[in-house]
Amino acid sequence: MAVFYQQSNRIFTLQTNHSTYQMKVDDMGFLLHLYYGSKVSGDMDYLLTYYDRGFSGNPSDAAGDRTYSMDVLPQEYPVLGTGDYRSSALIIRSADGSECCDLRYVSHEIKKGKYGLKGLPAVYAGENEADTLEILMKDSVSGLLVKLLYGVLEAEDIITRSAEIVNQGGGEVIVEKAASACLDFITGNYDMISFCGRHTMERIPQREAVAHGNHVIGSRRGTSSHQYNPAVILAETDTTEDAGKCYGMVFVYSGNFMCEAEKDQFDQTRVVMGLQSDLFHYPLAKGESFLVPETILCFSNQGFGELSRKYHRCIREHICRGRYMQEKRPVLINSWEAAYFDFNGETIAGLAKEAAELGIDMVVMDDGWFGKREDDNSGLGDWQVNEKKLGCTLKELTERVRKTGLSFGIWMEPEMVSKDSNLFREHPDWALQNPGRKPVMGRNQLVLDFSRQEVRDHVFDQICRVLDEGNIRYVKWDMNRSLSDFYSVNGGSGKVAYDYVLGVYDFMEKLLQKYPDILIEGCSGGGGRFDAGMLYYTPQIWCSDNTDALDRLQIQYGTSFFYPISTVGSHVSAVPNHQTGRNISLNTRAVVAMAGTFGYELDPAKLKGEEKEEIKEQVKRYRKYAGLINEGDYYRLTDPLKGLCAAWMFMDGKKEKILLNVVMLESHGNMPVSYVRLKGLEADAVYEDADSKKRYFGSALMEAGLPMPVELKEYPAYQIELNKI
Ligand code: GLA
Repeated sequence: MAVFYQQSNRIFTLQTNHSTYQMKVDDMGFLLHLYYGSKVSGDMDYLLTYYDRGFSGNPSDAAGDRTYSMDVLPQEYPVLGTGDYRSSALIIRSADGSECCDLRYVSHEIKKGKYGLKGLPAVYAGENEADTLEILMKDSVSGLLVKLLYGVLEAEDIITRSAEIVNQGGGEVIVEKAASACLDFITGNYDMISFCGRHTMERIPQREAVAHGNHVIGSRRGTSSHQYNPAVILAETDTTEDAGKCYGMVFVYSGNFMCEAEKDQFDQTRVVMGLQSDLFHYPLAKGESFLVPETILCFSNQGFGELSRKYHRCIREHICRGRYMQEKRPVLINSWEAAYFDFNGETIAGLAKEAAELGIDMVVMDDGWFGKREDDNSGLGDWQVNEKKLGCTLKELTERVRKTGLSFGIWMEPEMVSKDSNLFREHPDWALQNPGRKPVMGRNQLVLDFSRQEVRDHVFDQICRVLDEGNIRYVKWDMNRSLSDFYSVNGGSGKVAYDYVLGVYDFMEKLLQKYPDILIEGCSGGGGRFDAGMLYYTPQIWCSDNTDALDRLQIQYGTSFFYPISTVGSHVSAVPNHQTGRNISLNTRAVVAMAGTFGYELDPAKLKGEEKEEIKEQVKRYRKYAGLINEGDYYRLTDPLKGLCAAWMFMDGKKEKILLNVVMLESHGNMPVSYVRLKGLEADAVYEDADSKKRYFGSALMEAGLPMPVELKEYPAYQIELNKI
């Protein structure tokens, strides 16, 4: 058991292998946060201090005790209306119009196993791998109940949090704001690291001091977004990659979110992670309840590297599901950058034939195979194969591909509709739009109201017909615009952002149940919905529409802080690169793509003989290391946004096999030598370079590093295999 309750002082303690989380129900029934950090023993309620603070009010039942204030005390689930002026986790508008909710402890339950969340993705675990704590809180005036959920994965150092809000009172209440986790720190100075960006340049780390004033990141785009990833790190100011204390908060959700970090008047820090409060007013009729998506918490006292490895394990083994959770992913070739919309059945069969000679496993027919779709202005929603364009049926095409020895995958964008489509002409009211207003266009397409069952059912049936016709092993599920018209006939404007995401999840769950053997790769203009919620349904996500190896080093670096390498969709594309115009060698492009699912996004028919030979060798190399790359421990050795080189390594659990990867970022006259230091090795063990047969002590590789060659080239890359002897 990892959850302990001490009746005498009503203290709850959650213990993981290397961390402790503690909270307490105090005499008035408030649930106060006591501690989260490195493992400690004993009761931490001695940390609470009480002073009379001006302009920080006191609950009326404090019986005149002016030293007791919710504005100062650390809390588990702060609610607006109790005299706490900091960010709250919950705002409720009661039936009488008041915005006040005063949650007090009612009861709790400790259970074996990890709680699940109906209709929402969540961390899962076996009965013996996790424990659950449920704490029931109640507002006695409105009758509102809040069940706080804690999941503890002791061996993984993971604590999850969620909340269920139940309206047990008289009339309708409106949930105006709902978060799943709040972390209050009574002492310390912190930085918040968020992962920001834009289309084709996602998840670039940004480190800022948490100061007075609310620092907020989030999304109002209906998706988790390219602009801000729903995951942050809170780090003590001196924390580095390899040392120091840091906390991760990963929101398991793919829609609008908000993360607020604030230093209060007494220099205490609060971070709240949850749903975006704009575009959200969720009505609950009597008896109805609302589930807040989960936040995964993790603590490391050994810097960001250790935190990332813990998240990698958690997401790989407790979020990703299905047969591809363990199985090797296919090396695929995708038609997008090879042909864009300009292809027919012959082109795809040709790609498959060429790819078969290179040793590739699967061909993916990207956008353009359905309806009237010669460019991105029409056809979305009409999921019928355009046999005229292909020159054959889908069955015939997949049969041709199968004969080459490759399996077949297909692109889809189920949530979208083009104005110029039969679906829109038949059901113009199925697109999200505000009453009486023309909707905002994005890529000249509209968003289907996936909060509506009949809309989902229609698309589902069409898509199943396609999947049943072809022998399809893979689906790339795309989503190519932000939502903007948040209104549904199904509940107006306050519900749709959340209900839409639950509709998408419902659709995906049904698809997975029906086709458990199909591998689904998530995508939203590349990495616009790269989040732990999606990874519950799609064990890999196209990391970015930017396939330039140099930019990818930065994008994949940022992505690696939370998301395991096995989830990172990454391909070798043609040069000059279509997004940046840069020319980077085939070897470097492959080394970078091998920090991901690995595949190709080019037309092999346009390659020279020696390039094809090189690709054959790359595919073999990837297969040799796929296990190590996908299941091994990942170490960031440098920060590619600084320094002369980008370096990272994969190491097996026994610390016996290492694959070191280095890309030189700069080339100048008379270049200094770069030394790359390895991490995590056994200091006293001897490691041998598989090529040169040179031997080094682990301590030498970690303390002094390996010198990298100086070559008269731009961006050369090196992969070095080291084995313990
Ligand atoms: C998005 C994807 C691309 C490609 C196109 C097709 O941008 O990220 O990989 O599939 O759509 O329209």
